[in-house]
Amino acid sequence: MQLTWSHAVLNVKDAPKMLDFYTNTLGFSISDRGPIAEDGPDIIFLSQNHNEHHQLALVATREDEGPSNALNHMAFRVQSFEDLQTLQSRLEALEQKFLPLSHGNTLSFYFSDPEGNGLEVFWDTPWHVSQPSGAVWDNQMDEAAALAWVEETFGQDPQFGRREESAQEFVNRTR
Ligand SMILES: [Fe+2]
Repeated sequence: MQLTWSHAVLNVKDAPKMLDFYTNTLGFSISDRGPIAEDGPDIIFLSQNHNEHHQLALVATREDEGPSNALNHMAFRVQSFEDLQTLQSRLEALEQKFLPLSHGNTLSFYFSDPEGNGLEVFWDTPWHVSQPSGAVWDNQMDEAAALAWVEETFGQDPQFGRREESAQEFVNRTR
């Protein structure tokens, strides 16, 4: 199992101000945005890489003052479904709780490190799905069953399609 860095999600206080900085000063483009739950705050996805749906995302959840934990989670990609199964058995051996959540474009596990920092480890599915999207998946399924479940669960999304097509669309829109 090898992890490659994918993205961080920050809890922010002033989303418009942060968005202005990350887009106009650092050059990110918005790849998607929307409420994370009914009546929830917006999550804003940012990227400069068409192969990465988001390299950074901002969620306006912080109301506290001062240097509290701004980090929502860090995310790493694995190369195979088998890697997810390896991780699953390691987490189970530690009795570490995890949430199997699929974003349609991923099969993910969400969990925490020993000090409570949020982590996501995911495997890419072949599809693009508009974000935010999410559904809990049954991590006892094998790879074929899991992929069939993803297609069935997210196939109605208006943006559902092959990953490469949406990557090309992002290139066209942001160049
Ligand atoms: Fe994530």
